[in-house]
Amino acid sequence: MAGFREARGDLELHNVTKSFGDFTAVDDIDLLVPRGSFFALLGPSGCGKTTTLRMVAGLEQPTAGRVTIGDTDLTGSRPYERPVNTVFQSYALFPHLTIRDNVAFGPKRRKEKDAAARADEALELVQMTQFAGRKPAQLSGGQQQRVALARALVNHPEVLLLDEPLGALDLKLRREMQVELKRIQTEVGLTFIHVTHDQEEAMTMADTVAVMNRGRIEQLGPPALLYDLPRTRFVANFLGQANTGVGTIEGTDGDHLVADVLGTKVRIARDRSQVHDGEVLFGVRPEKVTVSRKQPDGAGNDVKGVVRDVSFLGVATSYLVDMPSGTTWSCYEQNLDVEPIDLRPGDEVWLTWNPGHAFGVEADAQ
Ligand SMILES: Nc1ncnc2c1ncn2[C@@H]1O[C@H](COP(=O)(O)OP(=O)(O)O)[C@@H](O)[C@H]1O
Ligand SMILES: [Mg+2]
Repeated sequence: MAGFREARGDLELHNVTKSFGDFTAVDDIDLLVPRGSFFALLGPSGCGKTTTLRMVAGLEQPTAGRVTIGDTDLTGSRPYERPVNTVFQSYALFPHLTIRDNVAFGPKRRKEKDAAARADEALELVQMTQFAGRKPAQLSGGQQQRVALARALVNHPEVLLLDEPLGALDLKLRREMQVELKRIQTEVGLTFIHVTHDQEEAMTMADTVAVMNRGRIEQLGPPALLYDLPRTRFVANFLGQANTGVGTIEGTDGDHLVADVLGTKVRIARDRSQVHDGEVLFGVRPEKVTVSRKQPDGAGNDVKGVVRDVSFLGVATSYLVDMPSGTTWSCYEQNLDVEPIDLRPGDEVWLTWNPGHAFGVEADAQ
């Protein structure tokens, strides 16, 4: 029979729970990560991301539930028995070994005869060939992180886990490495599970993002879909910005629900609302809102506010607008015209949006 290390296929978590004493860090998670996909686990600090990865790696055993790859049940097996490798934020390279020997270390220990050749191949993949003879201390942080990646890839794992691997890098290098990691994943075709608390990082890199909150997966899907149609208040606010208001659904108008948000009537496409009566949290993304001096005709979705701040950002202008409800909305207008509308703090403006861009989620959930 093939061992755990030979397991191939989709990674699945089945009703996985992890408790520490009476604290539940991971709460009954069901997850399917398709083989060969770039999967991001996104959530705030403390939501259970690392604990989830550790259970996939075998560094932690679930209190309940099972972890499988393809038809193989990995639950209870040891880390070294699993076809899984992890890259951490800290590089943990051996300081006294050269870069090549660091990368060849795993295959050599397993007495694989082509260890050196495989190390060179992995270094090539992360574009570090020219540094093979150096020691870790002679490399920058970003370069050491590439070596750490090569050291994991050289084992040809079925699943590569990345636990905030770019967390220690400065912003520019981080952006570069995001593009690099994506290229490498496409090239090797392995399943990558990338843990991050940075929503932009998750959205730019992953085929699928799972948004995690308090030990649970709140929503999972392609980034553009999660951004367009969040299903919970948490996802609406964690993945990008949202202009929101709590309202009461008062009726319908064709395919739309009509809600009263503190005196303002708003419409939400019925199939874009998670709730169809009672209280609703109405939301619309900043770039979907148009700012104008005059009330637009016939839109049916407009509200008057007062400009609080105007920031010219080059590609766009960002407006903060105080709403009658007491909240402040954010709006982005692309700078398509040579002369943008001249607005200043204190000016009255009308905000409009297409109701097909609005969404509704449960109001009281966190
Ligand atoms: N070994 C442990 N003992 C007790 N509590 C733990 C242990 N490991 C993690 N936790 C707790 O579980 C929660 C989730 O932690 P973690 O998975 O590291 O979160 P994240 O990686 O999302 O920041 C945190 O509240 C953390 O304090
Ligand atoms: Mg963590």
